[in-house]
Amino acid sequence: MIRVKVNFAFQLFTACLKPYQQLQNKNVDVRFMTKDDINKVHALCYEAFYEQWIFAYENKSFELSRVITADSYKSNEEKMKNVLIATVDNEIIGMCELSFYKRKSKTFTIDFFKSITHFPLKSMIITLATIGMYNHIATKEPGEATVDFLAVNKYSRGLGVGKILLSKADELAMQKSCNKISLLVVFSNYGARRFYEKCGYSSTKAFIFKKWFLWGNEGAFKMEKNLLPNTVH
Ligand SMILES: CC(C)(COP(=O)(O)OP(=O)(O)OC[C@H]1O[C@@H](n2cnc3c(N)ncnc32)[C@H](O)[C@@H]1OP(=O)(O)O)[C@@H](O)C(=O)NCCC(=O)NCCS
Repeated sequence: MIRVKVNFAFQLFTACLKPYQQLQNKNVDVRFMTKDDINKVHALCYEAFYEQWIFAYENKSFELSRVITADSYKSNEEKMKNVLIATVDNEIIGMCELSFYKRKSKTFTIDFFKSITHFPLKSMIITLATIGMYNHIATKEPGEATVDFLAVNKYSRGLGVGKILLSKADELAMQKSCNKISLLVVFSNYGARRFYEKCGYSSTKAFIFKKWFLWGNEGAFKMEKNLLPNTVH
C-alpha cells in the first residue's frame, strides 16, 4: 500500500517536472503568427482569459470567441504581423499581440465595432453603454506600443517564455520607433503584475471600472516601461 502511494507520488512529481525538463533541453523559437495558427492561438487565449471571455460571450463563449478571433485576424491580415508566437518543436506555447501608435489615439478600430456585432445582446448593450470608459482607457501617446494580449500555455508557465516574448516585443517596438511600451492588467491579476514588474514595467495609472463595465467590475493598472536602448534586456 505504502509502495503504491510512493509510486504515485513519484509519478506525480515527474509529471509536474515534465514540461520543465522538455523546455530546459529545447529552444524556444519566436516567430510571427500566420493564418494556420489562428485556432491554436485562440485556444491558448481562451484558456488564459476564460473568465473575461465567458462573461462577455456567455454560454456560447468558446465557439463565439473563436469566430470573433478568426474574423478579426482574417479581415486584417496585417494584424498577424504584430503577433509574436513562441514555439517549442513547432508547438505553440505562447503568444503576444502588440499594437504600435504613431500619433495620439483614442479612436476604436473597425475590428472593435465588428466584434461587438457578434456579442450576445446583453454584452452588446453593456459595451455600448461603457464606450466612454473604453475610450478613456484606450488613449495612447505618439510613439507608444501596447501589449494587447500575452498568454503562455498553462503547462509552460514559470519557465521564462513570457519574458522571452516581452523581450522580443521590446525589440519590435523599438524597430518601429516606439519609445514606450504599455499594457493594462486587472487589479486582481497579482501574478501577472509581479511578472510585469520583473520584466521592468511599473504602474503609472489606476483605472477604476464601473461596476457594470464588461471586462470586469474592479479596475486595472496601466503599466509601462520606457524603451531606451540600454533598458532592453
Ligand atoms: C503572465 C504570464 C504571461 C507569465 O508568463 P511566464 O512564461 O509564466 O513568465 P516567466 O516564466 O517568463 O517569468 C518571468 C519572471 O516573472 C516571474 N513570474 C511569472 N509569473 C509569476 C507569478 N504568477 N507570480 C510571481 N512571479 C511570477 C517569474 O518568477 C520570473 O522571475 P525571474 O525573472 O526572477 O525568474 C503567464 O503566467 C500567463 O499566461 N498567465 C495567464 C494570462 C495572463 O494573465 N496574461 C496577462 C494578462 S495582462
